[in-house]
Amino acid sequence: MGSATYSRYRGQLETYFDRTASKAWEQLTSDAPVSGIRRTVRAGRDRMGATLLGWLPADMRGLRLLDAGCGTGALAVEAAERGAQVVAIDVAGSLVSIAQNRAPRHLNIEWRVGDLLDPALGRFDHVVAMDSLIHYPAFDIVEVLDQLADRTAGSIVFTFAPATPLLRAMHMTGKLLPGQDRAPAIVPVAERLLRTLITSGAHGARVGRTERIASGFYTSQAMELLPR
Ligand SMILES: C[S@@+](CC[C@H](N)C(=O)[O-])C[C@H]1O[C@@H](n2cnc3c(N)ncnc32)[C@H](O)[C@@H]1O
Repeated sequence: MGSATYSRYRGQLETYFDRTASKAWEQLTSDAPVSGIRRTVRAGRDRMGATLLGWLPADMRGLRLLDAGCGTGALAVEAAERGAQVVAIDVAGSLVSIAQNRAPRHLNIEWRVGDLLDPALGRFDHVVAMDSLIHYPAFDIVEVLDQLADRTAGSIVFTFAPATPLLRAMHMTGKLLPGQDRAPAIVPVAERLLRTLITSGAHGARVGRTERIASGFYTSQAMELLPR
Protein backbone atom coordinates (compact mmCIF):
# COMPACT_ATOMS: atom_id res chain seq x y z
CA MET A 1 0.00 0.00 0.00
CA GLY A 2 2.98 2.30 0.24
CA SER A 3 6.77 2.36 0.36
CA ALA A 4 8.89 1.02 3.20
CA THR A 5 9.39 4.55 4.52
CA TYR A 6 5.64 5.14 4.35
CA SER A 7 4.97 2.09 6.53
CA ARG A 8 7.73 3.03 8.96
CA TYR A 9 6.51 6.62 9.37
CA ARG A 10 2.90 5.46 9.65
CA GLY A 11 3.95 3.14 12.50
CA GLN A 12 5.69 6.00 14.32
CA LEU A 13 2.70 8.27 13.79
CA GLU A 14 0.35 5.63 15.13
CA THR A 15 2.37 5.32 18.33
CA TYR A 16 2.64 9.07 18.69
CA PHE A 17 -0.95 10.10 17.96
CA ASP A 18 -2.60 7.03 19.48
CA ARG A 19 -0.71 7.19 22.77
CA THR A 20 1.94 9.87 23.39
CA ALA A 21 -0.01 12.85 22.10
CA SER A 22 -3.59 11.63 22.29
CA LYS A 23 -4.51 13.82 25.29
CA ALA A 24 -2.70 16.84 23.85
CA TRP A 25 -4.61 16.47 20.56
CA GLU A 26 -7.89 16.04 22.38
CA GLN A 27 -7.20 19.31 24.16
CA LEU A 28 -5.82 21.21 21.17
CA THR A 29 -8.90 20.30 19.11
CA SER A 30 -11.35 21.31 21.85
CA ASP A 31 -12.32 24.65 23.38
CA ALA A 32 -10.30 23.93 26.54
CA PRO A 33 -7.80 26.63 27.50
CA VAL A 34 -4.30 26.05 26.11
CA SER A 35 -0.94 27.80 26.41
CA GLY A 36 -0.12 30.87 24.31
CA ILE A 37 1.95 28.84 21.84
CA ARG A 38 -0.78 26.30 21.36
CA ARG A 39 -3.33 29.10 20.97
CA THR A 40 -1.43 30.24 17.87
CA VAL A 41 -1.44 26.65 16.58
CA ARG A 42 -5.17 26.34 17.23
CA ALA A 43 -5.87 29.62 15.44
CA GLY A 44 -3.76 28.54 12.46
CA ARG A 45 -5.46 25.15 12.31
CA ASP A 46 -8.88 26.80 12.44
CA ARG A 47 -7.94 28.94 9.44
CA MET A 48 -6.54 25.92 7.63
CA GLY A 49 -9.70 23.89 8.24
CA ALA A 50 -11.82 26.76 6.92
CA THR A 51 -9.59 27.11 3.84
CA LEU A 52 -9.79 23.42 2.92
CA LEU A 53 -13.53 23.29 3.53
CA GLY A 54 -13.92 26.48 1.49
CA TRP A 55 -12.47 24.63 -1.51
CA LEU A 56 -15.06 21.85 -1.25
CA PRO A 57 -18.64 22.24 -2.51
CA ALA A 58 -20.97 24.08 -0.14
CA ASP A 59 -23.66 21.48 -0.82
CA MET A 60 -22.21 17.99 -0.53
CA ARG A 61 -25.42 15.98 -0.66
CA GLY A 62 -24.84 12.78 -2.62
CA LEU A 63 -21.06 13.18 -2.50
CA ARG A 64 -18.72 10.67 -0.87
CA LEU A 65 -15.75 12.22 0.96
CA LEU A 66 -12.69 10.66 2.55
CA ASP A 67 -11.24 12.45 5.57
CA ALA A 68 -7.77 10.91 5.38
CA GLY A 69 -6.09 11.05 8.79
CA CYS A 70 -9.21 12.47 10.44
CA GLY A 71 -7.76 12.85 13.95
CA THR A 72 -10.51 14.02 16.28
CA GLY A 73 -12.86 14.50 13.34
CA ALA A 74 -13.70 18.22 13.01
CA LEU A 75 -13.52 18.26 9.20
CA ALA A 76 -15.47 15.01 8.86
CA VAL A 77 -18.26 16.55 10.95
CA GLU A 78 -18.35 19.78 8.93
CA ALA A 79 -18.45 17.90 5.62
CA ALA A 80 -21.19 15.61 6.90
CA GLU A 81 -23.15 18.68 8.02
CA ARG A 82 -23.08 19.79 4.37
CA GLY A 83 -24.69 16.48 3.45
CA ALA A 84 -21.62 14.45 2.47
CA GLN A 85 -21.37 10.71 3.09
CA VAL A 86 -18.08 10.72 4.96
CA VAL A 87 -15.54 7.98 5.52
CA ALA A 88 -13.20 9.20 8.26
CA ILE A 89 -10.10 7.14 8.88
CA ASP A 90 -7.10 7.47 11.14
CA VAL A 91 -4.36 5.08 12.17
CA ALA A 92 -4.68 6.33 15.76
CA GLY A 93 -7.64 4.48 17.27
CA SER A 94 -7.81 6.65 20.39
CA LEU A 95 -8.36 9.77 18.25
CA VAL A 96 -11.08 8.03 16.23
CA SER A 97 -12.85 7.16 19.52
CA ILE A 98 -12.70 10.80 20.60
CA ALA A 99 -14.04 11.83 17.17
CA GLN A 100 -16.87 9.33 17.39
CA ASN A 101 -17.87 10.55 20.84
CA ARG A 102 -17.84 14.18 19.73
CA ALA A 103 -19.73 13.78 16.46
CA PRO A 104 -23.51 14.27 16.41
CA ARG A 105 -25.12 10.84 15.96
CA HIS A 106 -27.40 11.80 13.07
CA LEU A 107 -24.53 12.55 10.66
CA ASN A 108 -23.55 10.13 7.93
CA ILE A 109 -19.97 9.34 9.00
CA GLU A 110 -18.33 5.93 8.83
CA TRP A 111 -15.46 5.96 11.34
CA ARG A 112 -12.52 3.67 10.63
CA VAL A 113 -9.21 2.88 12.29
CA GLY A 114 -6.50 2.07 9.76
CA ASP A 115 -4.43 3.20 6.84
CA LEU A 116 -5.75 6.07 4.75
CA LEU A 117 -4.53 4.22 1.65
CA ASP A 118 -6.65 1.14 2.28
CA PRO A 119 -8.21 0.33 -1.14
CA ALA A 120 -11.16 -1.32 0.62
CA LEU A 121 -12.42 2.18 1.46
CA GLY A 122 -13.64 2.42 -2.13
CA ARG A 123 -14.06 5.41 -4.40
CA PHE A 124 -14.65 9.03 -3.50
CA ASP A 125 -15.83 12.31 -4.95
CA HIS A 126 -13.43 14.33 -2.80
CA VAL A 127 -10.63 13.71 -0.33
CA VAL A 128 -9.44 15.99 2.46
CA ALA A 129 -6.14 15.37 4.25
CA MET A 130 -5.37 18.15 6.71
CA ASP A 131 -1.86 17.89 8.14
CA SER A 132 -1.93 14.08 7.79
CA LEU A 133 0.93 13.97 5.29
CA ILE A 134 3.24 16.57 6.85
CA HIS A 135 5.40 13.90 8.50
CA TYR A 136 6.16 12.08 5.25
CA PRO A 137 8.89 12.89 2.72
CA ALA A 138 7.86 14.39 -0.63
CA PHE A 139 8.05 11.16 -2.61
CA ASP A 140 5.70 9.43 -0.15
CA ILE A 141 3.28 12.36 -0.22
CA VAL A 142 3.15 12.15 -4.00
CA GLU A 143 2.72 8.37 -3.95
CA VAL A 144 -0.21 8.77 -1.52
CA LEU A 145 -1.77 11.48 -3.70
CA ASP A 146 -1.30 9.34 -6.79
CA GLN A 147 -3.05 6.35 -5.23
CA LEU A 148 -5.87 8.50 -3.87
CA ALA A 149 -6.29 10.29 -7.20
CA ASP A 150 -6.95 6.95 -8.87
CA ARG A 151 -9.98 6.50 -6.61
CA THR A 152 -11.25 10.09 -6.58
CA ALA A 153 -13.52 11.72 -9.13
CA GLY A 154 -13.09 15.31 -7.93
CA SER A 155 -10.54 17.27 -5.92
CA ILE A 156 -8.09 16.19 -3.25
CA VAL A 157 -7.40 18.98 -0.79
CA PHE A 158 -4.40 18.44 1.44
CA THR A 159 -1.62 20.23 3.26
CA PHE A 160 2.14 20.00 3.30
CA ALA A 161 4.79 21.65 5.45
CA PRO A 162 6.36 24.29 3.20
CA ALA A 163 10.15 24.46 3.23
CA THR A 164 10.38 27.94 4.74
CA PRO A 165 13.66 28.98 6.38
CA LEU A 166 11.89 28.83 9.76
CA LEU A 167 10.48 25.32 9.30
CA ARG A 168 13.83 24.14 7.96
CA ALA A 169 15.58 25.52 11.02
CA MET A 170 12.99 23.97 13.33
CA HIS A 171 13.36 20.67 11.53
CA MET A 172 17.11 20.81 12.08
CA THR A 173 16.78 21.60 15.77
CA GLY A 174 13.89 19.20 16.30
CA LYS A 175 11.82 21.80 18.10
CA LEU A 176 8.59 21.17 16.29
CA LEU A 177 5.12 21.28 17.73
CA PRO A 178 3.15 19.56 19.09
CA GLY A 179 5.81 20.05 21.69
CA GLN A 180 6.98 16.73 23.01
CA ASP A 181 10.47 15.38 22.43
CA ARG A 182 9.19 12.17 20.92
CA ALA A 183 7.08 13.92 18.31
CA PRO A 184 7.85 12.59 14.84
CA ALA A 185 9.50 15.36 12.85
CA ILE A 186 7.53 17.41 10.38
CA VAL A 187 9.27 17.15 7.00
CA PRO A 188 9.50 20.48 5.16
CA VAL A 189 8.84 20.08 1.44
CA ALA A 190 9.73 22.61 -1.28
CA GLU A 191 6.59 23.65 -3.17
CA ARG A 192 8.39 23.58 -6.50
CA LEU A 193 9.58 20.00 -5.97
CA LEU A 194 6.10 18.92 -4.93
CA ARG A 195 4.55 20.52 -8.02
CA THR A 196 7.10 18.87 -10.30
CA LEU A 197 6.55 15.45 -8.75
CA ILE A 198 2.76 15.81 -8.89
CA THR A 199 2.56 16.95 -12.49
CA SER A 200 5.10 14.39 -13.73
CA GLY A 201 3.45 11.55 -11.77
CA ALA A 202 1.76 8.63 -13.49
CA HIS A 203 -1.66 10.03 -12.72
CA GLY A 204 -1.00 13.46 -14.23
CA ALA A 205 -3.20 15.40 -11.81
CA ARG A 206 -2.95 19.16 -11.90
CA VAL A 207 -2.45 21.61 -9.05
CA GLY A 208 -5.26 24.07 -8.41
CA ARG A 209 -5.34 26.59 -5.58
CA THR A 210 -2.70 26.79 -2.90
CA GLU A 211 -2.51 28.89 0.25
CA ARG A 212 0.08 29.08 2.99
CA ILE A 213 -1.13 29.69 6.53
CA ALA A 214 1.26 30.90 9.18
CA SER A 215 0.10 31.62 12.70
CA GLY A 216 2.76 31.73 15.41
CA PHE A 217 4.08 28.21 15.72
CA TYR A 218 1.82 26.81 13.01
CA THR A 219 2.88 26.89 9.37
CA SER A 220 1.23 24.71 6.80
CA GLN A 221 0.27 25.05 3.15
CA ALA A 222 -3.00 23.98 1.60
CA MET A 223 -3.02 22.61 -1.93
CA GLU A 224 -5.80 21.50 -4.22
CA LEU A 225 -5.28 18.66 -6.65
CA LEU A 226 -7.66 18.46 -9.57
CA PRO A 227 -8.28 15.67 -12.03
CA ARG A 228 -7.04 16.32 -15.56
C1 LIG B 1 -1.53 16.34 12.61
S1 LIG B 1 -2.82 15.17 12.80
C2 LIG B 1 -4.17 15.97 11.98
C3 LIG B 1 -5.50 15.34 12.26
C4 LIG B 1 -6.69 15.96 11.55
N1 LIG B 1 -6.60 15.83 10.11
C5 LIG B 1 -6.80 17.41 11.93
O1 LIG B 1 -6.40 18.27 11.13
O2 LIG B 1 -7.25 17.69 13.06
C6 LIG B 1 -2.32 13.94 11.62
C7 LIG B 1 -3.17 12.69 11.68
O3 LIG B 1 -2.91 11.86 10.56
C8 LIG B 1 -2.93 10.51 10.97
N2 LIG B 1 -2.19 9.71 10.00
C9 LIG B 1 -0.93 9.90 9.55
N3 LIG B 1 -0.60 8.98 8.65
C10 LIG B 1 -1.69 8.19 8.48
C11 LIG B 1 -1.96 7.06 7.67
N4 LIG B 1 -1.05 6.57 6.83
N5 LIG B 1 -3.18 6.47 7.75
C12 LIG B 1 -4.13 6.96 8.60
N6 LIG B 1 -3.92 8.04 9.40
C13 LIG B 1 -2.71 8.65 9.35
C14 LIG B 1 -2.30 10.57 12.35
O4 LIG B 1 -2.60 9.42 13.13
C15 LIG B 1 -2.89 11.84 12.91
O5 LIG B 1 -4.09 11.63 13.62
